[in-house]
Amino acid sequence: MIPFNKATVTELEAACVADALQTGRLSGDGKYTAKVYEQLKQRFDFNNVLLTTSGTTALEMAALLTDLEPEDEVIVPSFTFSSTVNAFLLRRARPVFCDIHPDTYNMDESLIEGLITEKTRAIYCVDYAGIPCDMDRINRIADEHGLFVIEDAAQSIGSTYKGKYTGKLAEFTCFSFHETKNYAMGEGGAIVFEDGKYLDRAEIIREKGTNRRQVLKGWVDKYTWYDIGSSFLPSDVLAALLYAQLERYDEIMARRVAIWNRYHEGLKALESDGKLQRAFVPDYVEHNGHMYNIKLPTDRIRTGLVEYLKQQGIMAYICYVPLHSSPMGLKLGYRPEDCPVTEDCGARVLRMPLYYDMTDADVDRVLEETDRYLRSAL
Ligand SMILES: Cc1ncc(COP(=O)(O)O)c(C=O)c1O
Repeated sequence: MIPFNKATVTELEAACVADALQTGRLSGDGKYTAKVYEQLKQRFDFNNVLLTTSGTTALEMAALLTDLEPEDEVIVPSFTFSSTVNAFLLRRARPVFCDIHPDTYNMDESLIEGLITEKTRAIYCVDYAGIPCDMDRINRIADEHGLFVIEDAAQSIGSTYKGKYTGKLAEFTCFSFHETKNYAMGEGGAIVFEDGKYLDRAEIIREKGTNRRQVLKGWVDKYTWYDIGSSFLPSDVLAALLYAQLERYDEIMARRVAIWNRYHEGLKALESDGKLQRAFVPDYVEHNGHMYNIKLPTDRIRTGLVEYLKQQGIMAYICYVPLHSSPMGLKLGYRPEDCPVTEDCGARVLRMPLYYDMTDADVDRVLEETDRYLRSAL
């Protein structure tokens, strides 16, 4: 059986979690939260980083920090997880769906300007499969029109765009440390922003709208309600888990990239024979090995391959169902033909199993079975 994903947990994770439990401090912002900030700042040179309870809530915090209001418009791809859009829909801002590139499956920057109206306030872009968007172009458009850029980097921690890490590319960056991501704390995430002017308010929003963090720091002796907010601060026990994962940063990254490369090399012949399209990485990107995806010639072939692999005990996953043509998207007034490339990719893209403990023999088995099915079906 080759699952789609499996978390990597070693004695180090167990030891750090046990240590966090011993401290008698189970809520957030304790010893391990501070240690994680040190790791992230050292490795990526982040100016301001706050852990959150999920990637989803990091995206919600960005919507609060940018003061999105009812009827504001936000340009966003439809080929993403519901969280990217729910984040600002909760503020009653409206999604304006932007179609994607047929190779990276990221937002097509050339379409953004055509979607801007006087109500547009922000662009939520998504780094699909750990591949950063063309951030120079997106930031340039945002600057010209006075828009916020929020990068949904749930999948792209450790990837670079023109040599710069995600987290350094947009006004706000939101990461996920969910079990399915490269570095996991079970459920968790982080919001990162370069400009320190957001820090005080972000800490208040994360603590139910109060200045509780200032009390914990000993700066004031009682806490007060200052702003809108929610419970976005994760337990220090989960931060201990993430600390251990980040201590293993290089080995996890190297193994994932090696698996990615093995898939890429192993699928070359099928691509040359016109049976699939392999994952694509633009030359300005170094990726983090988050996901290996392929595009099949038709929806029917994809469904057939998923079924066949399942019979062989291999779990491949179709990834995103486009949001604009989902029941919620239709309720918002969208039609499938509004984002034709997304609709097409949504029916044909397949995500292969990829996790740290996957052996070369596992990858080879997926490759062999994929080859067997596609050569008989096509
Ligand atoms: C692009 C994207 N955004 C947001 C999320 C939500 O992250 P989380 O599960 O940490 O809430 C995911 C999760 O899979 C994602 O893929």
